[in-house]
Amino acid sequence: MSRGIYIIGTDTDVGKTFITAVLVSLMRKSGYDTAYFKAVLSGAEKKGNKLVPGDTEFVCKASGLNEKYENLTPYIFETAVSPHLASKIEGIPIDINNIKRKFNFLKQKYDYIIAEGSGGIICPIIETNEGAYTLANLIKELGMGVLLVASAEVGTINHTVLTVEYAKNMGIEVRGIIINGYKNSISHIDNAEMIKKLTGIPILGLMPWIDEDHIKDISVSIRGISDETFEINSLINVMGEI
Ligand SMILES: Nc1ncnc2c1ncn2[C@@H]1O[C@H](COP(=O)(O)OP(=O)(O)OP(=O)(O)O)[C@@H](O)[C@H]1O
Ligand SMILES: [Mg+2]
Repeated sequence: MSRGIYIIGTDTDVGKTFITAVLVSLMRKSGYDTAYFKAVLSGAEKKGNKLVPGDTEFVCKASGLNEKYENLTPYIFETAVSPHLASKIEGIPIDINNIKRKFNFLKQKYDYIIAEGSGGIICPIIETNEGAYTLANLIKELGMGVLLVASAEVGTINHTVLTVEYAKNMGIEVRGIIINGYKNSISHIDNAEMIKKLTGIPILGLMPWIDEDHIKDISVSIRGISDETFEINSLINVMGEI
C-alpha cells in the first residue's frame, strides 16, 4: 500500500511546484521512496522537437527523482491555457482512465506519491455537457487528501478560505496549509493567524521567498531549505493510504 497527498494551490503560480520540489526533496533525502505526479501540464516548453514539462523537470532536478517524464505527467500541452482548452486547441483528448493508469503504475513502483494540481482546485480538465470534469473531481476519484499552498500576501485570506470551503463541499479533506513567500511582517503574521482561525486547519509550513539571484544551484538550495521549513514526521502524517 502506498501513501500520498495532492498539493493544490489557491491559484496558478502560487508556488505549488516550488513547494512540491521542496517536499519531494525532503522525503527522498530522508530515505522515503517518493514520486512526483502531475496529471496534466499546459504551457510546456518546446526543446528541439520535444515538449518538456517544466514543473516535472524542476521537481526531478531538485529532488534527484529519476523517472521518465511521461510516467510522471501523462498529458503535456504547449499552449499555456487551462488543460481543457489546451486539449481542445491541440486536438488531443484527455482520457481520465489513462491518467489513473499512470497513477496506478507509480503507486505500484513507489512507496509515496506527492502529486501537484494544475491551476486552482476548480481547474477544468475536460469540458463536459454539464460543465467540466475538474481537478477536484480527479482528486476525489483518486481518493486523496490535499495540502493547500497559499500566498502570504494581501487577498490570501479570502482565496484560502474559499478554496478550503470548496474542497470540504466536494468531500476532499484539506490536511494542512503551506504559506509561500512568507516573511515576519505584521501583515503576513496576521494573514497566517487569520487563515488558521477561519479554517481550523494546521499550517504545515511557512516558506520564505528565496531570492533566486543569490541561488547558484536551485536544487542544492531546495534541499537545504526543506529541513528548516518542514517537519518530515508531520509530512508523513498527513499522507493517507492510496
Ligand atoms: N518560495 C519561493 N522562493 C523563490 N521562488 C519561488 C518561491 N515560490 C515560487 N517561486 C517561483 O515563482 C514562480 C511560480 O511558482 P510555481 O511554478 O511553483 O507556481 P505553481 O503554483 O506551480 O504554478 P502552475 O499553476 O503553473 O503549476 C516560479 O518561478 C517559482 O520558482
Ligand atoms: Mg506548477
